Amino acid sequence: MTTIACVVLAAGHGTRMRSQKPKVLHEIGHLPMLGHCLRTARALGAERLSVVIGAGGDQVRAALEGLDAGAQVAVQDPPRGTADAVTAAMPQLEGFEGVVLVLYGDTPLLTLETLKALIGEIEAGAGLAVLGFETDEPGPYGRLVTADGSLQRIVEAKDASPEELEITLCNSGVMAIRSDVLNAFLPQIDNNNAKGEYYLTDLVGLAGEAGHGLAFVRGGEDEVFGVNNRVELAQAEKIFQARARHNMMVAGVTLADPDTIYFAYDTEIGEDCLIGQGVVFGPGVKLEAGVTVKPYSHLEGATMRTGSSAGPFARLRQGTELREEAAVGNFVETKKATLGQGVKAGHLTYLGDANVGAGTNIGAGTITCNYDGYGKYKTIIGENAFIGSDTMLVAPVTVGAGAITGSGSVITKSVAEDALAVSRGKQIERARWAATFRKRHGDE
Ligand code: UD1
Ligand code: MG
Repeated sequence: MTTIACVVLAAGHGTRMRSQKPKVLHEIGHLPMLGHCLRTARALGAERLSVVIGAGGDQVRAALEGLDAGAQVAVQDPPRGTADAVTAAMPQLEGFEGVVLVLYGDTPLLTLETLKALIGEIEAGAGLAVLGFETDEPGPYGRLVTADGSLQRIVEAKDASPEELEITLCNSGVMAIRSDVLNAFLPQIDNNNAKGEYYLTDLVGLAGEAGHGLAFVRGGEDEVFGVNNRVELAQAEKIFQARARHNMMVAGVTLADPDTIYFAYDTEIGEDCLIGQGVVFGPGVKLEAGVTVKPYSHLEGATMRTGSSAGPFARLRQGTELREEAAVGNFVETKKATLGQGVKAGHLTYLGDANVGAGTNIGAGTITCNYDGYGKYKTIIGENAFIGSDTMLVAPVTVGAGAITGSGSVITKSVAEDALAVSRGKQIERARWAATFRKRHGDE
């Protein structure tokens, strides 16, 4: 097994985002772009991870805690080019022997297969392997100069001759480098070029001249896609979603109308789940096999167990668990709520900070009044209870197993097992009152 270290370049704020937030923290599928890079690196088995940030990269540093606690931070100040950025990370690669993979923090869509192919080139004997791509619009990209199909060097667009600018095979920026090659040639890179920067791409020519094998792999244009502004951010999101939909369907999930369904980076869905039109998944959703989510539902931080269903128009929020065969219907919102096996909450209901026992029926319009403006309180309902329609459960409150609450009740005190609790005005009836009332107002 090849030992891998990964350096993610993320210096620079990305001014074209027009944002208070550093570019690499803008999200694709609810995960910062940088997070996608780190996850990819870990999935490849990277043992060391180093993120190069610039001056003022404090937000990135803070975010890293949550993205990958094991990642190290290197500071490059001022930014003097991609080779200089990698140099900033070199102290963290002290003593490392293996393959160093360089990624860009604003290029979040790389696939594992392609990166494995790149590392495979090193395993097959190359000292350095570049991820290239073909494009009709090579414009600003570095060009891969080849002879007889083998890589010679990379020339940056600004330094290229007119002939070299005709080349459509471009540099994505991703590079896998054997650590000894990196150690030997990185210090030799100078800034004698159009931009006056230290180009990491110069490593290619230097290593080649010294006799090291150079390789390149062609990646798809949409996996090497880099984000510089919000238009490109939206394009990257589109690519991400298209891929997620494809992967879901291949994995045995039925998507009623794939283009209308949106996933998060960590959405987990089991086989034979049915997802209706217009369903949106926020982060942290897990559906076991055989779950149905009906159209126009929104889920985040929710777990649905086998045979459960939600929607249409359901909103499952953070901390929701629907156990086997539980069903929530239209306009039902849940938060920090566990609904036991077979629980039904069919219509117009809010269940927050609630625990509902198996087999219980929650009538239409039921609300757990969990918040008094200061604190949040729990509602606990036992098994096989029957909560009448329009019950207000003023938490903290407990309804015992098998108990029934009368429709329209405001329940402020705990209800014993198998009891009936009713709290509402008694019905009174006055014969002919309505007719007399109308007559008084001039109606016959
Ligand atoms: C770079 C490549 C070019 C390639 C292109 C792909 C070099 C010299 N050129 O050009 O061949 O086609 O990417 O998009 O490598 N960064 C730092 N510190 C710096 C400079 C850059 O961390 O001092 C980071 C940036 O945050 C970014 C990445 O490196 O993530 C690329 O930098 P950028 O300035 O966009 O390089 P390009 O000129 O686009
Ligand atoms: Mg760039």
